[in-house]
Amino acid sequence: MTGPITGSWCPVDSRPAAGQLPRRDGAVRPAVVPAVVPAPISGTLFRSVMGSVPTSVAVVAGMTAGGEPVGLAIGTLTSVSLDPPLIAFCPGATSTSWPKIRATGRFCVSVLAGDQQDVCAVFASKRPDKFAGLSWSVAGNGAPRLDDVVAWLECDLEAEHAAGDHSIAIGRVTRLGSGTGEVPLVFLGGRYVGVA
Ligand SMILES: Cc1cc2nc3c(=O)[nH]c(=O)nc-3n(C[C@H](O)[C@H](O)[C@H](O)COP(=O)(O)O)c2cc1C
Repeated sequence: MTGPITGSWCPVDSRPAAGQLPRRDGAVRPAVVPAVVPAPISGTLFRSVMGSVPTSVAVVAGMTAGGEPVGLAIGTLTSVSLDPPLIAFCPGATSTSWPKIRATGRFCVSVLAGDQQDVCAVFASKRPDKFAGLSWSVAGNGAPRLDDVVAWLECDLEAEHAAGDHSIAIGRVTRLGSGTGEVPLVFLGGRYVGVA
C-alpha cells in the first residue's frame, strides 16, 4: 500500500460488516482472525526439542571449607571467551552441591569419557558421598578432579547470572588439560551416545 486509503478503495455500498475485511477492489472477504494463541511451552516439549541437541557431560566439583568434596553432573558446559579464558554452565535452583561450590569461589570441571556413564549417574544423584569409591585427586586450585576424564578445567567463579530456574555460572579458567584421546561421553535424546 503506497497511496492514501480513499472512499473508492472501500465503497460505501460494500463497506465490510463486522468480522469482514475490505479488499482493494471493494469486495469483502471473511476476516482472518489469528487463531494461533501462543500456548505455554510444556517442560516435556522443551526437553524433547532440546534433547535433539547433543551435549557433553561433565562434573563440576569443589572442596568445602570443611574438606568435603562435592559435585554435580552438568550437560551445559560451553566455552565463552578466549581472552580472558571463560567457560559457562547452568546450575539448577534445586542443586544442593552448587551453593557449596559457589561459596568456595572455585571449582574444577571434569569432562567425562564415554566409559564413565556410571560416574555421571553418581553425580546426577543426591547421594551425600558421591566421591566414595571413585578415582580422583585434588587439583591445583584445591577442587576435586576426576581421573581418566577427557579434559579438565580449574576455574575461579567469575560471575553468576540469574536465568529462570537455573543460573549461568561463568568460570575463569586458571589451569586446564586434556586426556590422551578418550572418547567423550555425549548426551543426546535422553540417552548416552559414544563419539569415536
Ligand atoms: C546428562 C545430565 C546433564 C545434567 N545437566 C545439568 C545441568 O546442566 N545443570 C544442573 O543443575 N543439573 C544438571 N543435571 C542434573 C544434576 O546432575 C542433578 O540434579 C544432581 O542431582 C544435582 O546434584 P546436587 O543436588 O548434589 O547438586 C544433569 C544430569 C544429567 C544426567
